[in-house]
Amino acid sequence: MTDRIARRPHGRAAREIYGAPDVHSFAWPPVLEALLLGPDDRLLDIGCGGGVFMRHAREQTGCRVTGLDHSREMVRLAGPGAVHGEAEKLPFADGSFTAVSSIVAFFFIRDPVRALGEMRRVLDPERGRLAIFTTAPEAKGTEAAPYPLATRGHFYTDEELAHLPREAGLSRSEVRRPDPWAQLLVAQP
Ligand SMILES: C[S@@+](CC[C@H](N)C(=O)[O-])C[C@H]1O[C@@H](n2cnc3c(N)ncnc32)[C@H](O)[C@@H]1O
Repeated sequence: MTDRIARRPHGRAAREIYGAPDVHSFAWPPVLEALLLGPDDRLLDIGCGGGVFMRHAREQTGCRVTGLDHSREMVRLAGPGAVHGEAEKLPFADGSFTAVSSIVAFFFIRDPVRALGEMRRVLDPERGRLAIFTTAPEAKGTEAAPYPLATRGHFYTDEELAHLPREAGLSRSEVRRPDPWAQLLVAQP
């Protein structure tokens, strides 16, 4: 159930959830505030789902957007600009993007240090920055992370989350708290 609805969404219910125009829209303002995107930015959205944030970011900022998801059905739903792939093995050349976002997907990534290392590799070493919106441990068992979903992913303390980018070779990282149930990891190469 968790897999079908959230970890690798597929099926009619998943298409309805991730095709909705406001799915996870609570995450958009803190992510956009951290990335400060403009028309000369190239954004990669990892775990893009149905591509709703991709479209929002493009419309709001004029940036170019690529999405990546390991669910082929979500890639189809997201449409042009979305590609199939794994966060831990990004199918892009070094330095291809100026910004990386990820919304409610990091929780499911099995090897976060490897994924962050890949984000670092595909980011422009000078201008690159990333913003990852993830569910905080305080949300365990709430509507934001109900059981059994809460047992299927990874929660990190603020300290653990801030440390992961350093393990992956990113130089600066900071954890923000947009709300009590969420963490925003912001980092630079
Ligand atoms: C809960 S959904 C969120 C989708 C979208 N970001 C949103 O806010 O609507 C998590 C998404 O991350 C994708 N995902 C999870 N683990 C992934 C991985 N290792 N590589 C690529 N995509 C992944 C899933 O397929 C799913 O579409």
